[in-house]
Amino acid sequence: MAIEDAHNRPLLDLRISVTDRCNMRCRYCMPREHFDADYPFLPKEDILRFEEIVRIVESLIPYGLRKVRLTGGEPLLRRDLHSLIAQLRACSNELDIAMTTNGLLLKKHVAKLYQAGLSRVTVSLDALDESIFKSMGDTSANPQMVLEGIDAALEVGLSVKVNTVIKKDVNEGQIVPMVRAFGPRGVPVRFIEYMDVGTTNDWNLEHVVSAESMRDLLDDEFGSLQRNQPLHKSDVAKVYTTKEGWKIGFIESITNPFCGDCSRARLSANGSIYTCLFSNRGHDVRSILRMDGTEEDISNAIQSIWNDRTDRYSEQRSNQTEQLKVEMSYIGG
Ligand code: GTP
Ligand code: 5AD
Ligand code: SF4
Ligand code: SF4
Repeated sequence: MAIEDAHNRPLLDLRISVTDRCNMRCRYCMPREHFDADYPFLPKEDILRFEEIVRIVESLIPYGLRKVRLTGGEPLLRRDLHSLIAQLRACSNELDIAMTTNGLLLKKHVAKLYQAGLSRVTVSLDALDESIFKSMGDTSANPQMVLEGIDAALEVGLSVKVNTVIKKDVNEGQIVPMVRAFGPRGVPVRFIEYMDVGTTNDWNLEHVVSAESMRDLLDDEFGSLQRNQPLHKSDVAKVYTTKEGWKIGFIESITNPFCGDCSRARLSANGSIYTCLFSNRGHDVRSILRMDGTEEDISNAIQSIWNDRTDRYSEQRSNQTEQLKVEMSYIGG
């Protein structure tokens, strides 16, 4: 039996943050001056154990949950992540189990993740150019490490997508090279409009490159892009194809918000449900788990949270920019 929110949107996807830590410090997500040695990352005892995450997922499958996405922070910093994947896979063979990672540790772990039942992987990569990569990610790592992770994922047989956040005057020049690098390999690149998530990244509309202008640039380079039919109406990316058959996605959260069909709930690493990426408050589910709640207690609690949901932040963005928002590294992209 599906459950619906106040705008008749079902709960189909759960994005699960398995850690609030990351081994990069992307300027738009975890600027180092805020996320420094004194930053109060979650203590270990507050973080959900794998068994607790699995109980939440199990309680949502009867409601029609079709996809879980493991995120962070950086999910591969969580030890033995493959064991969580195996436990989730044991809940359901049909469940789409995806992961969003920065790719730095992917080469090392991908075989185990795949064997455990991971369905596919999305790798964040903002630039092929080493100095742009290093400055956007505020990292000493290099793009070659991410490319090796992508190669390893393709080799084991996982399907791979790449996410690229475009920031004006910073990595616009990477749009065409990224498509040329990944298109021929069957890896769709999805360009994301820089968003005003959290409160630390000094977001400003002037830093945003609209997906429309990216498409104009790509039309000039590759000929007119053809729009694909969406697979699901809740898909965040609009997908286009070049005449070579290369797929390119655009996530237009700023210029063309997609709240109307948003069926995503988010679970923070410490066990709160957030009904929107831009929420300022989560709903604690961990305490139900830790007070020996039954599966029915958990599903009833989430049902009532979901039934009350009215979020459509991106559609209302213009009059809400001062709102206090949760950080993306804590809640998962
Ligand atoms: P697929 O199942 O592969 O389509 O995955 P996905 O696109 O749902 O997941 P992914 O983590 O790749 O999402 C890509 C990016 O879209 C995220 O990093 C966010 O920047 C953005 N995004 C995802 N979900 C939402 C959402 O609910 N609201 C907004 N505003 N942006 C979102
Ligand atoms: N705007 C757009 N996308 C963002 N991400 C993180 N912060 C932002 C932001 N401010 C994306 C990352 C990654 C995913 C986890 O979220 O690039 O693809
Ligand atoms: Fe880490 Fe991803 Fe945030 Fe970058 S965008 S700091 S890789 S969680
Ligand atoms: Fe969903 Fe909130 Fe994103 Fe709108 S802004 S698409 S309601 S998560």
